[in-house]
Amino acid sequence: MNQPPAPAEQLRVVIVADNHARPTGHAQPKSANIRWNHGKVTPEQRTEHNGHPGCVVWLTGLSGSGKSTVAIELEREMFNLGRHACILDGDNLRHGLCSDLGFSQGDRKENIRRAGEVARLFADAGLICITAFISPYRSDRELARRTAPPGRFLEIYINAPVEVCEQRDPKGLYAKARRGEIKEFTGISAPYETPFEPELELRTDRLGVGECVSAILARLSLTR
Ligand code: ADX
Repeated sequence: MNQPPAPAEQLRVVIVADNHARPTGHAQPKSANIRWNHGKVTPEQRTEHNGHPGCVVWLTGLSGSGKSTVAIELEREMFNLGRHACILDGDNLRHGLCSDLGFSQGDRKENIRRAGEVARLFADAGLICITAFISPYRSDRELARRTAPPGRFLEIYINAPVEVCEQRDPKGLYAKARRGEIKEFTGISAPYETPFEPELELRTDRLGVGECVSAILARLSLTR
């Protein structure tokens, strides 16, 4: 009969060299006296532990296009499937981390830079990070892509025509923008640059939420 392993062997931890490379160049630290502290858990170990790698699922589209709705249902479905997912939502982040930012082009750029960095941290931690930001500028979305772990960023264009979003107007913001009570409102008085080559485009005026969720899961090779 085989003997059970000795306690010391049971507790043996295999420590392998970590391979967390951090991109540099777009967020130069203000101080030279800081360094990146590496952990002892590799991305491969996290993937094995969770059953899937971390990644960023970046939803972009107009206000009212359905980003948050899709994100919420997608997160719920992933949870049901035993996946580890979380949401970063534009409206929510603006209550805390980004409460100092408005909607000028510069503030949106900073908003998306911070969101991209946080999404990267979540992906590094092994989570499927679903983001819901208008993120109207291509250059900002490209920065978020470059910030994410290489090959682990999916841009998903949540596309509904502005007329449809305006008709839905779930928060009454389009009406306010038309009355001039909100300046620089995306789609009305501020631009939205449509993605050139998103990994996926979903017409939410034609598809139901469940269909959108299924399409994203299929694109991620996660079955329902
Ligand atoms: S982003 O442009 O910087 O990506 P973000 O996704 O964080 O925007 O926030 C968008 C949300 O803020 C919208 O869903 C809407 O509820 C609200 N909002 C308030 N003012 C504006 C505005 N001027 N343009 C767009 N959305 C606005």
